[in-house]
Amino acid sequence: MQRYDVVILGAGAAGMMCAIEAGRRGRKVLIIDHARAPGEKIRISGGGRCNFTNLHAAPGNFLSANPHFCKSALGRYTQYDFIDLVARSGIAYHEKTLGQLFCDGSSRQIIDMLTGLMRDAGVDLSLGVTFEGVTREDDGFTIRFATGPVRCSALVVATGGKSIPKMGATGLAYRIAEQFGLAVTQTRPALVPLTFDEKLRKRLKPLSGVSVDAAVRCNGAAFNEAMLFTHRGISGPSVLQISSYWREGDEITLSLLPDRDLFSVLRDARGQGGRQTPHTILSAHLPKRLAQIICEGVGAAGRIADMNDALLRRIADAAQDWQIKPTGSEGYRTAEVTLGGVDTAGLNSRTMEAKAVSSLFFIGEAVDVTGWLGGYNFQWAWSSGWAAGQFV
Ligand code: FDA
Repeated sequence: MQRYDVVILGAGAAGMMCAIEAGRRGRKVLIIDHARAPGEKIRISGGGRCNFTNLHAAPGNFLSANPHFCKSALGRYTQYDFIDLVARSGIAYHEKTLGQLFCDGSSRQIIDMLTGLMRDAGVDLSLGVTFEGVTREDDGFTIRFATGPVRCSALVVATGGKSIPKMGATGLAYRIAEQFGLAVTQTRPALVPLTFDEKLRKRLKPLSGVSVDAAVRCNGAAFNEAMLFTHRGISGPSVLQISSYWREGDEITLSLLPDRDLFSVLRDARGQGGRQTPHTILSAHLPKRLAQIICEGVGAAGRIADMNDALLRRIADAAQDWQIKPTGSEGYRTAEVTLGGVDTAGLNSRTMEAKAVSSLFFIGEAVDVTGWLGGYNFQWAWSSGWAAGQFV
């Protein structure tokens, strides 16, 4: 039977980072994946350019039942550590917006960097491997792969969450956690487009493809980024962000053009003669189709000169205090991440080791730590993978 010090399940961002660190410490490491290539999510991330971290990454950008859990790993392996690694590997990058760092070239550069570092650290990478089960032994674990059993002293579960099953997401980490008696918090799709019921979909159908800056609020969270109307509902960065806070039955509030006071814009227009319709005035600031839907929604037809303050306020509120009730989300099919996961109460925040099962580690998206959109989730993968890599 093959023997390793460390076996890592999942050659994604977190697993590869952990493998590099453990290998550098002289541990004999095997990392496996059922996919044919490592780091598939890295490859498709950031539109092919991988938004690999965020300059502003801090614990406040992460959701978890225990918001303090992520502090240790994020504090010991920071965005600057990863940026340093990227820079030393000669990968050119740039800040796109809001601290989000992307490769100038291709996300493949990040995968090549990680696989190169694994090679340098003497890590064995095995792809296309089917995991069949794991058993606890006195001195570690026996892992059954379709290709045969492997013994190891430490097992790291880095198989991610459930998002995008087409790309190989399986939820295996949760099953292994449960097998060993660890709790798993409720999981749900996050960073995901939200959908409307048939009636609202019909009403907003003409807006499909329209993009606008919007502040989106729900359950105490607010994001001010671009928003996109789709044929099924709404998407775009601000909506993906708020989806992590939204629950079925909740309303969300849209404030289109949050940096303008539309009521004042309308009142000023009325003061300057007022021959125009509110639709024309709003169209100078918002996409035409959107302006039309807003005006129709409050029955504001005719010249603005004939409209009183109350109606102008209703028009402005329809655009800037728009309460909307999504009925669902696009689900794991398109969700960028899974909210929830292996309960952090059962893990050591310094090492990622299960408190009740020595030498069993969980890292990355599998754990109940979920970042905002914008490079935060990769930073958690790097930081948690690095943290476990120091101890396995
Ligand atoms: P990850 O999912 O990366 O890796 C898990 C690995 O385990 C996979 O290789 C999988 O094949 C393997 N695996 C699963 N089940 C298995 C099984 N049963 N047997 C064997 N292997 C198994 N984040 C960010 O910060 N910036 C960004 O730009 C983006 N962009 C982005 C775009 C899209 C389309 C998606 C879906 C996601 C993002 N993300 C992102 C999120 C980011 O990709 C995600 O948070 C990390 O990849 C999580 O890293 P992990 O290593 O934990 O899991």
